[in-house]
Amino acid sequence: MGSHGQEHGHGHGHSVSEDLMTEMLDLDGEVLADHLGNVTEWIAGHLGDHPVRTIIDLGAGTGTGTFALLSRFGDATVTAVDASAGMLEHLTDRARRSGDGGRVVAREIDLDAQRLGGVSADLVWASASMHHMSDPARVLEDLRGVLTPGGLFAMIEFETFPRFLPDDIGLGAPGLEDRLNAIADRAREEHHPTVNSDWTATLTASGFAVREERTFRIDQAAPLSEVAKRYARVTLTRLREGAGDRLAPADHTTLGALLDEDGPHRLENRTDLSVRSERRAWIAAAG
Ligand SMILES: C[S@@+](CC[C@H](N)C(=O)[O-])C[C@H]1O[C@@H](n2cnc3c(N)ncnc32)[C@H](O)[C@@H]1O
Repeated sequence: MGSHGQEHGHGHGHSVSEDLMTEMLDLDGEVLADHLGNVTEWIAGHLGDHPVRTIIDLGAGTGTGTFALLSRFGDATVTAVDASAGMLEHLTDRARRSGDGGRVVAREIDLDAQRLGGVSADLVWASASMHHMSDPARVLEDLRGVLTPGGLFAMIEFETFPRFLPDDIGLGAPGLEDRLNAIADRAREEHHPTVNSDWTATLTASGFAVREERTFRIDQAAPLSEVAKRYARVTLTRLREGAGDRLAPADHTTLGALLDEDGPHRLENRTDLSVRSERRAWIAAAG
């Protein structure tokens, strides 16, 4: 995350961007709970009768995947791996509060600098994290050694990042969200060169046999729940922070009106917000 180039670290505690990221990931898990349930169901179908006792959540963040996997695989413990101590602290607190403390182990590992060793897993899950790795092929090599016989690797990457606004929001700025996301896409490509890579080819070249790949479409129609509106607010706030002066002043003004909590155009007053996103998922075995 530190490589996003969107952070404004304060040198101590959590930065504003880190807090926003943490809240956004939690909201993503909450708003898209049904989607996560569909993905874990799909994985469980592939595992069949293969027992799932040990799971690794690679680049676990706040634990969106960890908690979905704990509820899908009732006999499993999850080792949550992340380079960010703050994320792991948040995840561990949440596990403790929900009574899952005994089923979650947090391991702070920067996979760019350290190898993943001393662990084995019946299932490895990596959601929106592989493109963060500076050398995904090297991490995949470690993963092959980590999977138990018959174990599977499930990987998810964004095909399109969440959109919330209709194209014409009636404030004289059609296409505002597309322009914001185009700026974010460019920054992501700059900081994470593998983000748009051919992951099927990478998996195959790393010795994995892809069992299935598919796109999950998320389409939550208007009007949104309050929590989904909060997800929209936090996501758009992050995009605004990241865009800085690459976003035209007129667009900043419009976005400011949408994000002004007390203003007449505040997001929460809108009944035309929806959640649209597409995620690509792979299930692979160590070939
Ligand atoms: C976009 S978040 C995804 C979080 C979570 N998997 C989800 O789907 O909500 C990416 C996560 O990968 C972690 N990460 C990035 N680079 C990493 C590295 N080199 N080693 C370990 N974790 C890393 C980040 O700290 C962050 O928590």
